[in-house]
Amino acid sequence: FGPQRLSGQNVVVTAGGTQEPIDPVRYIGNRSSGKMGYAVAQAAVTMGAKVILISTRPELPVPAGLHKIIYVETAAQLQGTVSSVFEGADVVVMAAAVADFKPDQYVTHKIKKKPHPTDMQLTLNQTPDILAMLGQQKTHQFLIGFAAETEDLLQNAQTKLTAKKVDLLVANDVSQADRGFGADQNAVTLLRPTAAPETLALADKSVIATQILERVANLLA
Ligand code: C5P
Repeated sequence: FGPQRLSGQNVVVTAGGTQEPIDPVRYIGNRSSGKMGYAVAQAAVTMGAKVILISTRPELPVPAGLHKIIYVETAAQLQGTVSSVFEGADVVVMAAAVADFKPDQYVTHKIKKKPHPTDMQLTLNQTPDILAMLGQQKTHQFLIGFAAETEDLLQNAQTKLTAKKVDLLVANDVSQADRGFGADQNAVTLLRPTAAPETLALADKSVIATQILERVANLLA
């Protein structure tokens, strides 16, 4: 039981919310700050892993000791990037809040206001579920998903665990201001296919990240 419990493991972490452009100046986004994913990446480095971080947040400080950081914006770019490193990964942590919907069309010029206020429609398409695709494709990889919910947290998380074929699901109540999106702290429940749920008490995201990866190291050992 030492600090280097993930040495020799290739860990891929996605972090932040994707942005789906409407036109050159507007996008559909979400409230994910990237802090939880960055905390997981940093904790994995500390535990000796070779870490690739796929991030939507170029303004955040780069965790020391990463093998590589790759910046993306859209769900499609995140999908392409995570797919390209999936085969070589031992552990994949999908902490990013990937857009579930994107504009049907990208308008190449800034959409102008009408002279008189009028209703406008924006048609959205559902994006492919990257985590579910990885769940189908995985061979040896240990796959971790996140579920941010505002109601029926455990029930929704349990459904995702099964439907997406993940090995560990981190369920996150984002209806409270002191935890989850944007906050420095988090309180989560860990769900696994065969074990009872385990709740981790409110703590700094760095502490939660280490606790999650300790569980992973135990399961890989
Ligand atoms: O179903 P939901 O989007 O809430 O699931 C959250 C989990 O699924 C997260 O781990 C997130 O990274 C992943 N996800 C994904 N592709 C999507 C939507 C979510 O990989 N299009």
